[in-house]
Amino acid sequence: MAFITNAWYVACWAAQVKPGEMFHRTLLDQQVVFYRKQNGEAVALQDRCPHRFIPLHLGNLRGDRIECGYHGLQFDCSGKCVKNPHGDGKIPAAAKVRSYPVHEKHGMLWIWMGEGVGDPAQIPDYSVLEPESGYRTSTGGYIHINANYELMAENLLDLSHITYLHDGLLGSPEQVGADQEVKEEGSHIICNRWMPNVSVPGIFDMLYKRDGRHVDMWTNMRWIPPSSFILDSGVHAPGGQREDKGWYFGVHILTPETERTTHYHFAAALPSGTAMTTEEAARYAELRRFAFEEQDKPMLDAQQAALGEANFWDMKPVLLTVDAGPVRMRRALERMLAAERQGTATTG
Ligand code: FES
Ligand SMILES: [Fe+2]
Repeated sequence: MAFITNAWYVACWAAQVKPGEMFHRTLLDQQVVFYRKQNGEAVALQDRCPHRFIPLHLGNLRGDRIECGYHGLQFDCSGKCVKNPHGDGKIPAAAKVRSYPVHEKHGMLWIWMGEGVGDPAQIPDYSVLEPESGYRTSTGGYIHINANYELMAENLLDLSHITYLHDGLLGSPEQVGADQEVKEEGSHIICNRWMPNVSVPGIFDMLYKRDGRHVDMWTNMRWIPPSSFILDSGVHAPGGQREDKGWYFGVHILTPETERTTHYHFAAALPSGTAMTTEEAARYAELRRFAFEEQDKPMLDAQQAALGEANFWDMKPVLLTVDAGPVRMRRALERMLAAERQGTATTG
């Protein structure tokens, strides 16, 4: 499988690349090592020495350079070998590794693995995570999913599963058959669900203090290609108005690791009117982690195991009304991939 490469992907939370340390990860089937220059700027290099293919993260940082741990070749932050400690010290022309453009934004380190250098202006807007936005944030969430990122993207775009998989926590039984609307805004696909007069799921009861009474609830999910999402989800009293509490923005961002594994980064931003104690805020973050890690992840892992190496469409999946958004997304991804293969497109 090929991946869409002309796009910004989240490599990791920016704080995971610590001064003086290396951090490594496989992204889009490529091994990458990250570190910070002495001025704090992040660097991403191919994590494989061109001499005997040792991962560079097993070596040492020498100022702004990486020294391979096996025979000591040194690479600068552009990926060029700048020191060969052996023989006459001559540096073979092929002694270099790929360097990837990276950009820090909204607390995340974004990487461009396609052609050219990428335009950071195309990085999706998650400014609700910035301290000056006034939102109370819970960031740093990460889960490793043993499934292709498109399967996980379907999970996020179509939230009809909350009634079953997250019953009592993020969903409730009366939500089945909710009105749903699928629309497109430019390259974005939006799936909105409106669920009037339903019993309040546990997480929303914490936010809105309904003590189990009914609410009107919404989940409005926006897909930003190829694999970023922002959810506007909340509750208010039946027939009421949206207030400055009872809702949040959910940030969900996927990066393919391999064809059948995915890095899942998530965060939340709550409006300033949300009345929560520190303990409640911690409990809110923990319940979200529980839902994603102990409810979604096992389902996704099992889904990929059941599919094995089969192509999704070859398996002739049954299609339901709730699949309208996911199917449009899959088609859009196919078009983007085809355009990239023909060398005609970049995506943001
Ligand atoms: S494997 Fe890196 S210097 Fe030999
Ligand atoms: Fe879920």
